[in-house]
Amino acid sequence: MKLWEGRFDNPTAADADEFNESLSFDKKLYRADITASIAHATMLGKCGVILEDEANSIVEGLNGILSDIEAGSIQIAGAEDIHSFVETELVARIGQVGKKLHTARSRNDQVATDMRIYVRESTKRTKKLLLGLLDALCRQAYLNINYIMPGFTHLRKAQPINCAQYFNAYSEMFLRDLERFDESERRVNVMPLGSAALAGTSYPIDREITKNLLGFAEVSQNSLDAVSDRDFIAEYIFCASLTMAHLSRLCEDTILYSSEEFGYWIIPDEYSTGSSIMPQKKNPDIPELVRGKTGRVYGHLTGILTMMKGLPLAYNKDYQEDKEAFFDTETTLNRCISIYTALIANLKLNTNAMYEAAGKGFSTATDVADYLAKKGVPFRDAHAITGKLVRYCIAENKDFLGLTLDEFKNISQSFERDVLGVVTVRSSAESRASVGGSSLKAARAGLASIKRRLKKY
Ligand code: ARG
Repeated sequence: MKLWEGRFDNPTAADADEFNESLSFDKKLYRADITASIAHATMLGKCGVILEDEANSIVEGLNGILSDIEAGSIQIAGAEDIHSFVETELVARIGQVGKKLHTARSRNDQVATDMRIYVRESTKRTKKLLLGLLDALCRQAYLNINYIMPGFTHLRKAQPINCAQYFNAYSEMFLRDLERFDESERRVNVMPLGSAALAGTSYPIDREITKNLLGFAEVSQNSLDAVSDRDFIAEYIFCASLTMAHLSRLCEDTILYSSEEFGYWIIPDEYSTGSSIMPQKKNPDIPELVRGKTGRVYGHLTGILTMMKGLPLAYNKDYQEDKEAFFDTETTLNRCISIYTALIANLKLNTNAMYEAAGKGFSTATDVADYLAKKGVPFRDAHAITGKLVRYCIAENKDFLGLTLDEFKNISQSFERDVLGVVTVRSSAESRASVGGSSLKAARAGLASIKRRLKKY
């Protein structure tokens, strides 16, 4: 049965029905839809729009539908959308009185309310998963705070860094993501119900009652905007896109660092895959999949923003397209965060290889230049002298640690014996004690600061 067939001479064509329907994907909204309908019916009863008895039997009928769906004893099928399904099922169960549920309501404010309830739950789920990922990153930082690894720019060895500082960098990114989701929750938590089709309603409803029953913080202030606002969905997908960008960077590091060429990280067997032809292979399929799935989440962001653009006020059926974009984003994001949390928690570090690599590629050249500058050589000259020293080392196939004081002095008389103390990997990392820097103390403070900011959640 269609909710709107009264006006039509002929039934819709089967292919039109199939094209129009949303039940195949909006059935995910069943709990939100029934919960909102229970609140709506209760409010109608309290305000005398329908009789209290009528409200009670509607609520009872809706509760029955909900528990039957959850128990798996009824299938959600055979209707245009979840709203039609619930209403048709209700009338089948409680008779004519069920037809009063849709008083002072439209599917337009109903679907906007359902989506807000759903997105609110999803945001909470995502926040919880992000907390788990942050916990795994903080743990790796804590366990590896005494180790040094190479830091890169342009994927060329740049300066030695502290391992905890490395993990803290990702924690900073995911902490910002967590904050973004948390802030977006405030804007999701506004109730459109009571806006009806677009213009509001002539019934003496009390939106405060429904708002309180559904746990919304506020009621929407403009009915035209309320039924056509999908900003909260775009916002979730944007937050998800940025989180995926951060995950994807971490994936790229994982793929590189676990390769034979780097050999810094070991992805445990439990999170690796093999090749059907090359027996020796241990492949990073999980990071590659997460990196790849980033593309589809970005796709949903482009999709939703494009869908919203240029729509005339107020509701348009285009909005139905928000659902698959949102559901797929949520599922993809949450699965990616979960699997990466497990991977990071089980990651093994080859700290010797990282330490050794940190000393290669003249990674302490900046320390040499800084050393000279601190002796009074203007920094630009110190940079050039050090560059010359690097060239000398390359020609002689040596690194800084293999040079004698005489060799240093041949390049510049400003070098003294104490230069030998600044070219080690550890002294280099330890020297950068600025806030957020690579010294042990700074890395420890960085971790403490992350943990302090996490306490709020
Ligand atoms: N399935 C629809 C959607 O997702 C529900 C609202 C339908 N409203 C309407 N006026 N046709 O947007």
